[in-house]
Amino acid sequence: MSIDPHVFVIFGATGDLTRRKLIPALYHLMQSRDIAERCHVIGAARSDWSDDDFRSVAKQALRDDGFEEDVVQNWCDLRLLYQSLGDDGTDFGALRQRIEEVEDAFDLPGNRAFYLSLPPHAYGSTIEQLGEHDLSESDGWTRVVIEKPFGRDLESAEELNETVHTAFDEEQVYRIDHYLGKETVQNLLAFRFANAMFESLWNRDRIKRIEITVAEDLGVGGRAGYYDRSGHVRDMLQNHLTQLLSLIAMEPPASMDAEAIRQEKVKALRAVVPPTPEDVVFGQYASGDVDGETVPGYREESDVPDDSDTETFVALHLQIANWRWRGVPFYLRSGKRLPVKRTQIAVVFQRAPVALFQPGGEPCIPDNADCTAEPNVLLITLQPNEGFDLRFEVKSPGTSENGMRLESQRLSFSYRDAFGPIPDAYETLLRDVITGDQTLFVRSDEVETSWRLYTPLLDADIPVHSYPAGRWGPEAAFDLLPRWINGELRHDTDE
Ligand code: BG6
Repeated sequence: MSIDPHVFVIFGATGDLTRRKLIPALYHLMQSRDIAERCHVIGAARSDWSDDDFRSVAKQALRDDGFEEDVVQNWCDLRLLYQSLGDDGTDFGALRQRIEEVEDAFDLPGNRAFYLSLPPHAYGSTIEQLGEHDLSESDGWTRVVIEKPFGRDLESAEELNETVHTAFDEEQVYRIDHYLGKETVQNLLAFRFANAMFESLWNRDRIKRIEITVAEDLGVGGRAGYYDRSGHVRDMLQNHLTQLLSLIAMEPPASMDAEAIRQEKVKALRAVVPPTPEDVVFGQYASGDVDGETVPGYREESDVPDDSDTETFVALHLQIANWRWRGVPFYLRSGKRLPVKRTQIAVVFQRAPVALFQPGGEPCIPDNADCTAEPNVLLITLQPNEGFDLRFEVKSPGTSENGMRLESQRLSFSYRDAFGPIPDAYETLLRDVITGDQTLFVRSDEVETSWRLYTPLLDADIPVHSYPAGRWGPEAAFDLLPRWINGELRHDTDE
């Protein structure tokens, strides 16, 4: 893979994402691929920082990440620059001049990436400014990277797409959803399309239901200012969960080419029946115990209004109206302050049509109340403890008065045991930006299709039920799919 020499501009360079994710990812990428001399980073923000201010923040971030002092020092001093955009953040003339100076000094061919690590309301104006200052094209390639959330609803996403397209062509646009950079999420494609065994079962004839869980044990932390205006639908459902849904549900692409894959993802989303308020449960965490510690409720977090009814939990039932999935329910749930951090997809297969091995010896028909036959379940764990478990029934050794006794066991695969540490999602995504691979980025029609599904829910008056921190959401969510949450099933994430 060739990496062109380029300038990498980070808007919002004084912010948390730059320090926590972008600088370590860029550094790691440069180091492991020995391409340090090809990437020149310019941090840009309103603050009146010097190059050295930016470098010392970056150095600290890298030290915190355990990188070696002298190499870090070298890289930061040689490759990092800072450009203030002035008090009102509009001095794009100065930024342009700085970029050109760097390109002249290092004889660079004019390849530029602009990363918008900004509050969402600043995306539109920043893109307009890039266009007005002739920064949307150059002698080399120019790419713009836009963080999620892309819009607040369908209308604002369409408007933002329009603004983006006045300055950039879609081939230049990289809409980030960091879940797509996770190795295990990408592996969903390999798992499905390189293993004929599973793909031939991947349909309504063999699958009873699919459950997608993205659980976090943390609360809203210091991000309430953003989160309280967004809520969980915008923060997690519209993007991360929907990406997982489309990768699980899509048809095989014609090739591994970015357009072929993105086309199939959009097609799957278009077949999703828009959920109604009856298909949805919202929740908000109250004070409770997580990991043996009592934590405050959402309304007691700093910067959250006392009467906020922002949802911190969503459970949702979806149907996909196409030949593969008609009739198979998809259940999505996600929330903050749940018992654990875990992202998991459970594919629950149909049971055997007749259960022969019953305790009394009499066969019975699964789905009868007393019939204890268990279905096969494929559990795909995306984080942490990345891997798969396939649950199946085996005869437990020995005999019993009641005949043969069955027990559920697991075949397990652990990603880390097989491959060791997994690269951070941002490293993968930044590499793809600088090599020009759009496969793991969200296309304009994809983001709009997703908003089309959820915008009616945001406009509806859906009650927000309280749940104690440390539980799997409110009682009402248990009613949506009782066996899902109450711990009866072995594959249940309560374990
Ligand atoms: C972000 C959300 O996109 O994803 C956060 O804004 C959330 O609220 C985070 O905590 C979860 O990401 P991960 O990679 O830790 O699962």
